[in-house]
Amino acid sequence: MNTSPPFNAGELIIALAKGKLLAPALRWLQAAGYVFSDDELRSRKLMLTAAAGGMRAILVKADDVPIYVEYGIADLGIVGKDTLQESAAEVFEPLDLGFGRCKIAVAGWPAPTEKKLHLRSVVRVGTKYPQIARAYFDRIGVQAEIIALQGSVELSVLTGLADVIVDIVETGATLRENGLIVYQEILTSSARLIVNKASHKLKLAAIDRLLHMVNPS
Ligand code: PRP
Repeated sequence: MNTSPPFNAGELIIALAKGKLLAPALRWLQAAGYVFSDDELRSRKLMLTAAAGGMRAILVKADDVPIYVEYGIADLGIVGKDTLQESAAEVFEPLDLGFGRCKIAVAGWPAPTEKKLHLRSVVRVGTKYPQIARAYFDRIGVQAEIIALQGSVELSVLTGLADVIVDIVETGATLRENGLIVYQEILTSSARLIVNKASHKLKLAAIDRLLHMVNPS
């Protein structure tokens, strides 16, 4: 899928997620020779131009990275596998960048609540990942009512809104400090480079150059 982006045909457009992945993503791009100025990064600008040219970055919410890439506004994106899987976007995913490692897990109060879940007719699940959560509970044959939340997901169990959560566990501190435990890990995530399918053909040389700069083989 491609629309007509307001950019030069010769430059690569990359969608970057504002948030935890931005700093390591910028370091990765720097290693590939694409440096974005601190002044621009400190500003409120949402479109940045690499100092030596050849690339522009658009700064979007993590959930929107796969959308901009799928629609071809951005040729490339850097996004967590968790977000990518949740989006089900039709994009190529040529590279695991190795940073931003975390897990998606089912978590809740310590046992015996965990065991009782299987006795419930419907388990209420608080999550920022409704698609991943739905697929997981379908797979294990447990009927689940998915409650889609925007953040502070652990609160849904603490307050009784949900029986369990499906959420990111990175250091484990949020669960620990709120007296919750992991029941089951369901996905390992890390940052991925994603590529628009049309760009992969139209800008193959530039994309290959980028991949070889950081991953010579
Ligand atoms: C994420 C996630 C957990 C926490 C896990 O939340 O939803 O709450 O990080 O990290 P930890 O295992 O290192 O404690 P985030 O900080 O993105 O905030 P949010 O819940 O408001 O989205």
